[in-house]
Amino acid sequence: MTRFAVIYYSSTGSVHDLAEAYAAGAEEAGAEVRLRRVAELVPHEIVEANEAWRDHLEVTADIPTADIKDLIWADGFALGTPTRFGQPASQLKQFIDSASAAWSAGHLAGKPASGFTSAHERHGGHEATLLALYHTFCHWGSIIVPTGYENYDVAHAAGGNPYGVSSIGSEGAPGLAVLEQARYQGHRLAMLARTMKDSRVEAA
Ligand SMILES: Cc1cc2nc3c(=O)[nH]c(=O)nc-3n(C[C@H](O)[C@H](O)[C@H](O)COP(=O)(O)O)c2cc1C
Repeated sequence: MTRFAVIYYSSTGSVHDLAEAYAAGAEEAGAEVRLRRVAELVPHEIVEANEAWRDHLEVTADIPTADIKDLIWADGFALGTPTRFGQPASQLKQFIDSASAAWSAGHLAGKPASGFTSAHERHGGHEATLLALYHTFCHWGSIIVPTGYENYDVAHAAGGNPYGVSSIGSEGAPGLAVLEQARYQGHRLAMLARTMKDSRVEAA
């Protein structure tokens, strides 16, 4: 069975919603999916002072915390993060920065990978954040799978970002069109992961 990991950070739920839709799409493609959130690093009192942040942490407490072993386990993966000043959140970056042993052992290479994000503003840095995330995938040797416009109607309805699935926080929780694109991309990545895994087995 193809293994697929969806690993994300979310403070107030938008990226979490995208992650769930991604995971559902990968499951529909027949993959075994690990949905994982990276650890919160912000001091407890800061989270407590923000009602939405605190509530989101509470309702997602049962989602297992991501471990680098999840990336090693997976045949393909998606990483999600809110936009933070045009960059991935430090919580996800901390997770990424603990991957050096997995990277040097070649465990992350050759696996299809994509990113997803949410930013408050329509032009608040979605693409910059995704491209920054893709720098990491280049170093890992992962196979970057952008959304592109393969399924144009879905991509267009979701805002037409060809770099990765993205939502606009100021418009509220991700709408049906963006969730549909996340689902589509999860399905697509899982299918690609399966094809690439099968071809490695055949070549061995
Ligand atoms: C420290 C910080 C930096 C942020 N930087 C940006 C930014 O550069 N552009 C933007 O549009 N929104 C920015 N935001 C807003 C979040 O990206 C946005 O609310 C996002 O939808 C949150 O996703 P979440 O609900 O999954 O946590 C920032 C928020 C914080 C706390």
